[in-house]
Amino acid sequence: MLSNLEQQPADALLALIKLHNADPRADKIDLGVGVYRTGQGATPVFGAIKAAEQKLVDTQESKSYLGPEGDMGFVHALMPYIFGKEDPSKDGRIEGMQAPGGTGAVRLAVALAKRSGVTRIIMGLPSWPNHAQILGDLAVELVSFSHAGTDGKVDMDALRGAIAAAQPGDAIMLHGCCHNPTGIDYSEAQWDEIAALIKAKGLLPILDLAYQGLGAGMEEDAYGVRTVLAAVPEALVAYSCDKNFGMYRDRVGAIYVMALDAAALNRVLSNGHALARAAWSMPPDHGGAAVRLILEDAGLTAMWLDELDTMRARMRQVRARLAAAGQAGNIDLTAIGHQNGLFSVLPLSSEQILRLRSDHGIYMAGSGRVNIAGLTTGNIDKFIAALAAVSAGT
Ligand code: LMR
Repeated sequence: MLSNLEQQPADALLALIKLHNADPRADKIDLGVGVYRTGQGATPVFGAIKAAEQKLVDTQESKSYLGPEGDMGFVHALMPYIFGKEDPSKDGRIEGMQAPGGTGAVRLAVALAKRSGVTRIIMGLPSWPNHAQILGDLAVELVSFSHAGTDGKVDMDALRGAIAAAQPGDAIMLHGCCHNPTGIDYSEAQWDEIAALIKAKGLLPILDLAYQGLGAGMEEDAYGVRTVLAAVPEALVAYSCDKNFGMYRDRVGAIYVMALDAAALNRVLSNGHALARAAWSMPPDHGGAAVRLILEDAGLTAMWLDELDTMRARMRQVRARLAAAGQAGNIDLTAIGHQNGLFSVLPLSSEQILRLRSDHGIYMAGSGRVNIAGLTTGNIDKFIAALAAVSAGT
């Protein structure tokens, strides 16, 4: 029976890691998968995480089972950052559970929405490819609209049209900040409008907050989530610590549910626990425990926020440098300056992307998405020159 299965292509984004690693060129540039890199090209463990991990080694007394909800101290410690210090549980209407990374959180959110009767999810494209893969695997229909125009700005008309055409019982998936792959985020005024539109149409919002703190700041990046949640009766929030705590391979995430009241919240979470039990039983503990230890300790929290500030400042510098270059051949880089987070999309053809890889050792996703944190003072000029070379005459 197993031999009936058809060969599947490797995940394109994850396959890039291997392709880049196998390239012997010393001056190769990795702009593929979304990990932060320092000006020296490294993705180090946060100092605050190292300290918390040491504390964990010294103090953890047991590795006995917790439960499908994971470490609730971790889940609760994040809530003031996501939902605001004032009443983060919104009068007992918000509660969460730990999930294996942002992917686990999104998957659980979509599975919960499906269990509650959702059959269609409205989502702007392009999006993180795994969003569509998760919807496909869970057999939920993806109703797409265009996230951004060719001018590098949000396509609000497309979003308005998609919400106007929505059917009762639909959900809408939105990126909380640092849109992956475009880096094109909604302004505060646009979030205000989006929240009102979602409320008027009665859609279930699923908000994916995977990059809090990598855009404008921890507080600023929560604006969209907080604004939508203030407007609607129910919502799901998928959260990832993989980027803002640099925990990528440790898979640290959480899903939060906002329900009509405490009784409904309990019922929804019991479904979340049942789904988790049937999928991964319980989330991996180590990373969540390390994050909790940071957030319980004012000194470690300050250290973490400082490290996050440094990351954000470096990405802003790279963006400013690219924007200042203006034009690279036929590619206009100026919009990159006001986009957010790790990613931007360049208008490159598949052939140009392959030429960048073969002729210049520059690796990026097939969508033209670049991880701007892969650029450093040592390689940014080479990158701009390579872009000019492949795009000249097109
Ligand atoms: C990315 O988009 O590069 C990251 O979110 C990594 C992943 O899991 O796809």
